[in-house]
Amino acid sequence: MRTTVSVIKADIGSVAGHVVVHPDTIATATRVLAEAKAKGVIFDFYVTNAGDDLELIMTHRKGVDSPEVHEVAWTAFKEAAKVARELGLYAAGQDLLSDAFSGNVRGLGPGVAEMEFYERPSEPIAVFMADKTEPGAFNLPMFKIFADPFNTAGLVIDPKLHAGFRFEVYDVFEGKSVLMNSPEEMYDILALIGTPGRYIVRRIYRRLDDEIAAVVSVERLSLIAGRYVGKDDPVAVVRAQAGFPAIGEILEAFAFPHLVAGWMRGSHHGPLMPVPQRYSRCTRFDGPPRLVGLGFQVRNSKLIGPVDLFDDPAFDETRRLAQRIADYVRRHGPFMPHRLGPEEMEYTTLPEVLEKLKDRFIKIEGATKAAEPKLKTDLLSRETKEGD
Ligand code: 13P
Ligand code: 13P
Ligand code: MG
Ligand code: MG
Repeated sequence: MRTTVSVIKADIGSVAGHVVVHPDTIATATRVLAEAKAKGVIFDFYVTNAGDDLELIMTHRKGVDSPEVHEVAWTAFKEAAKVARELGLYAAGQDLLSDAFSGNVRGLGPGVAEMEFYERPSEPIAVFMADKTEPGAFNLPMFKIFADPFNTAGLVIDPKLHAGFRFEVYDVFEGKSVLMNSPEEMYDILALIGTPGRYIVRRIYRRLDDEIAAVVSVERLSLIAGRYVGKDDPVAVVRAQAGFPAIGEILEAFAFPHLVAGWMRGSHHGPLMPVPQRYSRCTRFDGPPRLVGLGFQVRNSKLIGPVDLFDDPAFDETRRLAQRIADYVRRHGPFMPHRLGPEEMEYTTLPEVLEKLKDRFIKIEGATKAAEPKLKTDLLSRETKEGD
């Protein structure tokens, strides 16, 4: 029997602005999932939050993209959003972009990371949930976990990892993906995923036998909605140990608080700070962006755990460095590269501000206009968006 782990999340409203999910909405989602478990639609579940995002971690035997399981998640979000509206929570229903559920929550606003596998005799997994950032925030750590031998000793030592991993990289603007092999195509992989706002590591497979190793939610809200509605705070699931990277190798990739896009109004770069669940609430300048990690054992399609993976002083220095980076970048105020670049800002309310100024520009006689670049890769072109 194959087990599916489905992590489906949405921001359905929060307390005191975009800070934290309300316990009543967690209770409502828990009730919906408990009913689904009693009916046998799902086998087990754990409801939690990453800051203002409501997170549904579910196990079942219906495979990925199951209409029944997605409907359970959709119902949980809808019911929780109803409670959020009653309580007057901030941005109630934020991530539920449509009322028209038709079998799958993808494209409707929620973020989804699902994988199906035959359980190993012992099946440890790590579930990562971030707030105030975007799916591409996982690019750097996923690369380190599955392709960098200085991070993951198993790539060198363990014969099952030694053949490397296959990366599915998804182009969010084109809706296309490409499979690339590490280590041979490592530099090509990096050439793409170094642009995390567009090319996102979506799935990773072990090359030895094509087993699924990791999955990341790739939904980008603003690209679905065509405007900024909230950040696409992502989730990821990673399998650990016995032929996959050890839990410690997976966590090691988060010991460096790299810069990610998100933070205040989804419009700023800041360090990704790994925190225990109790610190999963974004405060300073609505951040800095945060990551929580929960470890489980999956057994007979049930969840054993969780363990709060970043609740460890071993990550104190990472958090301290993140604070110092936060101090440093914040002093740039509204300047890039703290504030995101113009192509990302197109989805925010900044264009409305700029619109006002456009008629005030006066042509300068004899001034040259910048030439079109000779080599037009579509790496950063915005044409696809305009054609949408
Ligand atoms: P233990 O000896 O504590 O089981 O650890 C084994 C291991 O491989 C840790 O990465
Ligand atoms: P969320 O995406 O977490 O809702 O945050 C939105 C925001 O604008 C924070 O400043
Ligand atoms: Mg919010
Ligand atoms: Mg959020």
